[in-house]
Amino acid sequence: MSSPEPPAITLAHLSDLHFGTEDWTMAAQLLDDIAELRPRLTVVSGDLTQRARRRQFAAARAYLDRLGPLLVVPGNHDIPLYDVTRRALSPMGRYRSMVTDELNPFLVDHDLAVLGLNTTRPARWKEGSISPAQVELIRTSFAGAPASARRVLVTHHPFLPPPSLPRAIVVHGREAALAAIREAGVELLLAGHLHVGYADVVGGDDGPLSVQAGTAFSRRRRGQPNAYNVITLGAAGVQVQPQVWDGHGFRPAAGPGAPEADA
Ligand SMILES: [Fe+2]
Ligand SMILES: [Fe+2]
Repeated sequence: MSSPEPPAITLAHLSDLHFGTEDWTMAAQLLDDIAELRPRLTVVSGDLTQRARRRQFAAARAYLDRLGPLLVVPGNHDIPLYDVTRRALSPMGRYRSMVTDELNPFLVDHDLAVLGLNTTRPARWKEGSISPAQVELIRTSFAGAPASARRVLVTHHPFLPPPSLPRAIVVHGREAALAAIREAGVELLLAGHLHVGYADVVGGDDGPLSVQAGTAFSRRRRGQPNAYNVITLGAAGVQVQPQVWDGHGFRPAAGPGAPEADA
């Protein structure tokens, strides 16, 4: 007799909250959505604030406290841009004191292992990178997870450019990271940064699915409505359901993948 299939795992994937430019109607609606969805985990893939200001971090922290189980990584907007002294001396200071001291968080359970990486780099404010030490962290973290655990990696900077911006810069260190990702059996990569939702496999047809979320509720939109993703890790694989703001609420977007997909 075969053993029963494990129950599907639901993740909520939010990105680019950008407190300081938030739309509170959307932000409040999203809290209601998450409370109703009750995901196993909510992933926030960076850019919590607009300018890494204390007041913006305080608003972000208060919001995160209402989301339930959470994994969060920083984005480039969470390190100072114009305050070059603070950027040089303590780029992650406010994030660490006001959001979390863990910059590369790892959550592991019998059926789910999620690693977040801090891809921000103060020296090149906008672009992101995965260091050799972080590649090693991918290897060691997932090596310690149960074989039965579905494996997910979270970064702010994406592994793939969107179809509409094929020359957009992807995360530096991508190839070395992808080798470790494949060896570790990671099946899902979650990111944001470009404020465009899209999804595709990366590194070949059998590579992991790279899923980007648009900006959840910032007014810094890049030609797409605000959105977040509901992701289901089931027996048949990974399903991505973008939830797109239509002026009144977040509604499921038509079609698989994302508002913008290759196919
Ligand atoms: Fe952003
Ligand atoms: Fe960003």
